[in-house]
Amino acid sequence: MTDANQVQQQAALSLERLWPRLEITFRDAANAAPDDWCKFERRLRNEWERLFGLLIGLYGGQYDFFYHLEEMVGAAARSWLTRPTWLKRLDARREADPVWFQSQMMVGGMCYVDLFAGTLRGLRDRIPYFKKLGLTYLHLMPLFESPNGNSDGGYAVSSYRRVNPRLGTIGELSKLAQEFHKHGISLVLDFVFNHTSDEHEWALRAQAGDYEYERFYFLFPDRSMPDAYERTLREIFPTVRRGSFTWREDIRKWVWTTFNSFQWDLNYANPAVFRAMVEEMLFIANSGVEILRLDAVAFIWKRLGTNCENQPEAHQIIQAFNSFTRIAAPAMLFKSEAIVHPDDVMSYISPGECQLSYNPLLMALLWESLATREVKLLDHSMRNRFRLPQGTAWVNYLRSHDDIGWTFDDNDARWEWIDPDGHRSFLNQFYLGRFPGSFARGVSFQENPATGDARISGTLASLAGLEQAIQSAGEQQMELAVRRILMLHSIILSIGGIPLIYLGDEIGTLNEYSFASDLYKVDDSRWVHRPKADWVWRDSVENDPDSPHNHILTGLVQLIELRKQQPAIYGNETEFVETGNGHLFGYVRHGGGHRLFVVANFSDLPQEMDADRLRVYGPGFNFRDIITTQTLTADQPLRLAPYQYMWLVVDSTAS
Ligand code: GLC
Ligand code: GLC
Repeated sequence: MTDANQVQQQAALSLERLWPRLEITFRDAANAAPDDWCKFERRLRNEWERLFGLLIGLYGGQYDFFYHLEEMVGAAARSWLTRPTWLKRLDARREADPVWFQSQMMVGGMCYVDLFAGTLRGLRDRIPYFKKLGLTYLHLMPLFESPNGNSDGGYAVSSYRRVNPRLGTIGELSKLAQEFHKHGISLVLDFVFNHTSDEHEWALRAQAGDYEYERFYFLFPDRSMPDAYERTLREIFPTVRRGSFTWREDIRKWVWTTFNSFQWDLNYANPAVFRAMVEEMLFIANSGVEILRLDAVAFIWKRLGTNCENQPEAHQIIQAFNSFTRIAAPAMLFKSEAIVHPDDVMSYISPGECQLSYNPLLMALLWESLATREVKLLDHSMRNRFRLPQGTAWVNYLRSHDDIGWTFDDNDARWEWIDPDGHRSFLNQFYLGRFPGSFARGVSFQENPATGDARISGTLASLAGLEQAIQSAGEQQMELAVRRILMLHSIILSIGGIPLIYLGDEIGTLNEYSFASDLYKVDDSRWVHRPKADWVWRDSVENDPDSPHNHILTGLVQLIELRKQQPAIYGNETEFVETGNGHLFGYVRHGGGHRLFVVANFSDLPQEMDADRLRVYGPGFNFRDIITTQTLTADQPLRLAPYQYMWLVVDSTAS
C-alpha cells in the first residue's frame, strides 16, 4: 500500500472516530442552527483528507497527536458556530467567487493606527479619506497588546485577543471591520505567528519554569545548540544583536530570537503550539479580518544544519492553517510576507497556501531601474518570475513600513552582465545618496560589517528625489521627482495584482529624522519612514495647487480612477514586451477580452520606441493614451518624455 493510500485510510478512520464525538459535544448548538452545522460538516469533510495528511506528516510521530487533533477540530467547530452573521454571509459570497481579489477595483493601503489616526475611533473618522483614495483593502499594522517601549512597531505580540489599550478594544475593532466592509474596504491584519513577545502569557509561564510552556519556545541551558545552529543561520537584525539567540540571565537560558531579543520564536515542532496558534488565528478571523498577513513566514521551522528558512514544514504548517480557515472562516485569505529569494517567495503562493503575496522582487527592481535608468534586469526578471498559479495574486508595492533589501536572483543579474554583489553595493550607495548624481536620501538599515550586507530605509518621496529637490529648491528637480513617483505608481497600479500604498506616500511624505532622539527607536532606522500623519500640513498642501505633494496626490487619485475603469487590468495575465529601448519598460495586460499596453520611461531623457515594434505589440493602428488622452498612430515612433508612462488602448473612435 502506498503512503498516500495509507494516509487516506487513516484519515477516514480518524474522522469516523471523531465525528460522533463532535456531534455529542455540539449537539445543542447543532440543533439550534442545523444549517450552520451542515455547512461545518461539509467543509470539514471536504478538507479532511488534506488536513489530516498535513498534520500527520508534521505531528504523527508524537504520542499526543490524536488529542491535539480532536481539540483543534473542536476549536474550529466552536469558532464557526460563534462566527458573526455578517462574516458567515461573506463566507458564502467568497466561496461563490473565490478570485474576487483579482478585480481591477482592488486598491490597497496600509497604515499604523496610532501614527495615522491616533486610535481605532480616529481611524473610523478617516473612512471618507480612504474612499477618496479609492481604497478597497486596508492593512492596519499590528494593533494587539505588545510591550511598552520597543515592541518592533507592534510585531512583538503579548496577546492575540486584546487590542493595545492605547488604540481601542477588540469590540471596537470588530465594529470597525464591519463598518469598513460596508464601505467596500476589506480589513487586513497581521498574524505575527513566528514569535510572541516575551510578555505573552506563554512566555511568562515559560519564564516561571512551567514545562508545558517552556516547550512552546526554544530554550537552551548553554551555547552548544545555539552554536550548532548559528553555523548556518543568517543574521536578521545584526546591529541590534549579533546572532539569533538571546541570553536571559533571569532564567539562565539562551532563547531563540530571530528578530529582536524580546521576540521569542515559537516552536512549531510542538503540536501544542500549532494548536494554540490555530485557536488564536480563528479568533482573529472572527473579529472581521478578510485578509490575514502571515508575518515572517520563512522562519517558522528550524532544522539543524540549514539556514532555518523556507523549510518544507513551513509550507505544511501554512497549508494546515489554510485548511482550518477553509473549514471555519472560508472568507479569509492569506497574504504571505516572505522577503526572501524570488524562488522561495513563489513557493508560498497557491490557493491552498497563500492566495496573495507581497512582490518584493518587483519592488526592489523598480528601485533598481530608477537608479540605473535601465530596465534590463527588471524586464528579464519579470518575464520569468511574474506569472502566478491560477487563483492567486501579487500584492505590488513600492514602499512598506520595512526597509528595502536588494532581492534578485544572482544568475538573472549575471545573465544581463551585472555583477550581483557589486550591483547591490552600488544600489546601497545610490540610495544612501553617496553615488554621484544620486537624487535619493535613504538611510542605511542593518549594515552587517561581517558580510557587507545593508538595506535601505526612507519614504518613497525621499528615495525618489523629492527631499533633495525641495532642499535645493530646484524646480526642475522637483518636477522630475514627482514624475518618478507617479511613474512608479502607474506600474504597480497596472501590472496585475493588488496595488498597495503605504499611506503617507500618497502625498509624498518626506523622511522624518526625529526618531533618532527616541530611545526606543534610535537603533531602528525604519522609523525614518514611519512618521506621524500631520493632518494640518496635509490639509494645507491639499489646498495648494502649486505644491509637489498636491501633484502627487491628485496624480495618484487620477491613476487609481483610471485603473478601476480598465477591464484589461482584471486578473493576472501580463505579457512583457521587448521595447527595443533599454530605458523603456513595457507590458501588455490582458483581461476580460481587453488589452492595455503600458510603457514607462525610466530615464530622465526623452526616449523612443520604434514604430515597427509598436505595430507588433501596440493595441492597434489607431490608439489612445488614456493618461494624457492623446490619440496616436502606429506609423510613428512612440515618444516618451522623461519618466513618462503611457497606458495605451485601441482607439475605437478612429475610422
Ligand atoms: C516582518 C515585519 C517586520 C518585523 C518582522 C518581525 O518582517 O514586517 O516589521 O520586524 O516581521 O516580526
Ligand atoms: C527580514 C525578514 C523580512 C523583514 C525584514 C525586516 O529580512 O525576512 O520579513 O521585512 O527582516 O527588516
